[in-house]
Amino acid sequence: MKILVIGSGGREHAICQSLAKDPITTEIHCAPGNPGIASLATLHQINTEDGEAVAQLAKTIGIDLVVIGPEVPLIAGVADVLRQHHIPVFGPNKAAAQLEGSKAFAKEVMRAACVATADARVCTTPQEAAAALDLFGPPYVVKDDGLAAGKGVVVTIDRAEALAHAAACARVVIEEFLDGPEVSLFGISDGATVIPMDPAQDYKRVRDNDEGPNTGGMGAYSPLPWAPADIKEEVRRTVLQPMIDEMAKRGTPFAGLLYAGLALTSKGIKIIEFNARFGDPETQVLLPRLTTPLATLLLDAATGNLAGKQIEFSSDAAVTVVIAAEGYPEHVITGAQITLPSENSLSKSSATIFHAGTEEVDGRLVGAKGRLLTITGVGANLEEARKIAYATTSQITIAGAHFRTDIASLKQESMKPAAKDERMNP
Ligand code: AMP
Ligand code: GLY
Repeated sequence: MKILVIGSGGREHAICQSLAKDPITTEIHCAPGNPGIASLATLHQINTEDGEAVAQLAKTIGIDLVVIGPEVPLIAGVADVLRQHHIPVFGPNKAAAQLEGSKAFAKEVMRAACVATADARVCTTPQEAAAALDLFGPPYVVKDDGLAAGKGVVVTIDRAEALAHAAACARVVIEEFLDGPEVSLFGISDGATVIPMDPAQDYKRVRDNDEGPNTGGMGAYSPLPWAPADIKEEVRRTVLQPMIDEMAKRGTPFAGLLYAGLALTSKGIKIIEFNARFGDPETQVLLPRLTTPLATLLLDAATGNLAGKQIEFSSDAAVTVVIAAEGYPEHVITGAQITLPSENSLSKSSATIFHAGTEEVDGRLVGAKGRLLTITGVGANLEEARKIAYATTSQITIAGAHFRTDIASLKQESMKPAAKDERMNP
């Protein structure tokens, strides 16, 4: 099977690596890809938000399955165009991707599907925003309604900061603060059946101890030894299946990956957000643990054949650490030279270096975006996986770059509901 992967991040690198392990895969192509993905796939430079351009490329190379990694092409309707051309695609159509594209739409579908989430108000004026802040009280949660790459959310006890964020966005969702640890739980769906993957935990704040602004994600681990044993089945039954059923009922079925970002609150599981694609960096810990062949699984999802299928994971643990460029997430400085450990020392370690925002300029590997590399360690337990990931991370040199040192350190705080004032922006 010939597969075309759309995207250029650490997530797509992990997807390509996992696809390559499935015997059904004969060729992997990627657009646009990155220097790490180039070792697994043939790269193509096209406009990946242009559905016709993606369809033409797929037809020219005789692609059997297109896998769309990021949200931007999904929300632009690239999957719609591929389906019109009868090309199997893993990723939802534009209408279904609105579960990620609009927080207000996601809330409306959750209400219809009776899925528990934070109580919220959609506000377009400073007066409405002020009233909603006072209704819910601190800590205040103010979200830009549109796409913001994980950076459009402000959680703060400072009312003036909350009001300022609302004023800076055209339309905001202001909502109740959810206490409790966050979990990322992904369901793979063909539009009717949905199968949960193992839970993972992502670290959203830029600095150790959950300090600093929100980012796209600074690290992740899986599985979660502290999570309730039945979390997958509970989330499938109370969250994923009701959402898939509701989208099908509306005539806009969701076929692809439904990412539930949830909080285990003192009042039960509540949804923080949905995404319409694999999470980054959670994918870099989930796929190295996946034992079900990925290409076959994604083809089954793309062709309506998931009923009765299973998704299996090894009992190993995986930890991933994101190395970000100087200034990320606020003022990213690009162009820093990246020096990786030698092939020899890498081959002795069981760590994998996934490329994210890297590029090659005049034969040198340099930083091109905010998140540069994701380093995954796999081991018999989290402690071992963590040691492997950090041992390789410490051998990488990039001027000004930074990473969190507390990924998967599993301090008590990550297992217990956070105290209200621990979750604010500085
Ligand atoms: P989102 O883009 O909706 O995932 O929000 C980014 C991050 O903001 C989440 O991962 C949480 O850490 C935090 N957050 C969002 N909504 C809430 C909420 N209602 N209560 C507490 N924290 C939240
Ligand atoms: N890890 C967060 C995201 O993918 O949005």
